[in-house]
Amino acid sequence: MSRFRSVIAGVGSYLPEKILTNADLAEMVDTTDEWIKKRTGIKKRHIAAEGETTSMLATHAAKRALEAAGMEAGELDLIVLATATPDLTFPATATMVQREIGMYRGFAFDINAVCSGFLYALSVADSFVARGQARNAMVIGAETFSRILDWSDRTTCVLFGDGAGAVVLRGEPGAPGMAERGIVHTHLRSDGRYQDLLYVDGGPSTTKTVGHLRMDGHKVFRHAITNISGAIARVLVDSGLNESDIDWFVPHQANERILEGISKKLGLPKKKVISTVAEHGNTSAASIPLALDVAVKDGRIKQGDLVLFEALGGGFTWGAALVRM
Ligand code: UT7
Repeated sequence: MSRFRSVIAGVGSYLPEKILTNADLAEMVDTTDEWIKKRTGIKKRHIAAEGETTSMLATHAAKRALEAAGMEAGELDLIVLATATPDLTFPATATMVQREIGMYRGFAFDINAVCSGFLYALSVADSFVARGQARNAMVIGAETFSRILDWSDRTTCVLFGDGAGAVVLRGEPGAPGMAERGIVHTHLRSDGRYQDLLYVDGGPSTTKTVGHLRMDGHKVFRHAITNISGAIARVLVDSGLNESDIDWFVPHQANERILEGISKKLGLPKKKVISTVAEHGNTSAASIPLALDVAVKDGRIKQGDLVLFEALGGGFTWGAALVRM
């Protein structure tokens, strides 16, 4: 069977208009701008308007990614959408985006790996492209975490925001290499023993409600640094590359201190780290493609650059990916 590599042909993103600052939050719960900035690096986050759903954010991002790729929706064979905050329990949010962008062919489905969702979706879409089962694929991370936050819990409500990011993958013959563009390698992990550290306390099959996000942030923090560092080491070894080959680090944007801890371990200078956590907060599955879009649009990330992604989320799920842009 022929081997194709998945080239990122276009990136797009969308943030809801409404901005919630740390000062706004200080009026809602017992917190301060100083605490939030010092402990997380977050200054503000975007919040979806009443009636503005995950599929709507995703559709905007998808249209922008298609435009950047110079592609029509009808050229796509596949949409993989990562979200933990779907519009409805079913059908999949991906099929709503499929309809809204006018893609009347191929197939579309959702993936739930929470904050690692984009990495999981990217890896799954890459497998379809590599086997020639999809020529062009759209990978989306989209979330409205504002809908599952307990707005009276200061330990979680200050951390998250809403948004969506998308990439278009185009299959090209041959394996990715030092010169050839494409997804070089992905490494995914999960371990269900840690469910109680980060979860939502409701769902259709248990409470018949949506529930609220619960997190033991301190414990998650410690696992994040260890697990993510392990996944990065693995993806580098498996690719025959090392830290000095990385041009840009685009991490999941959970906390500035996690970004700093991991880049320090990798020996990466701050100027190679794309950080949007101050502006977006933690947007879960949307955070990597949102940050990628910012750095592609402002000209930092260029064609041919080697980019490292990583994330950890509820489950736990975690992973890393290397992409030659
Ligand atoms: O994306 C999924 C993965 N998620 C993450 O990676 C999140 C990982 N965790 C974190 O980012 C950090 O652990 C937090 C930002 C959530 C918390 O920072 P921390 O330095 O670990 O603080 P802590 O949880 O140990 O809390 C320290 C203190 C506590 O008070 P006491 O017990 O020392 O009196 C908290 O009650 O800070 C208090 N606190 C707050 N104070 C003001 C917790 N939240 C707030 C708040 N404002 N919003």
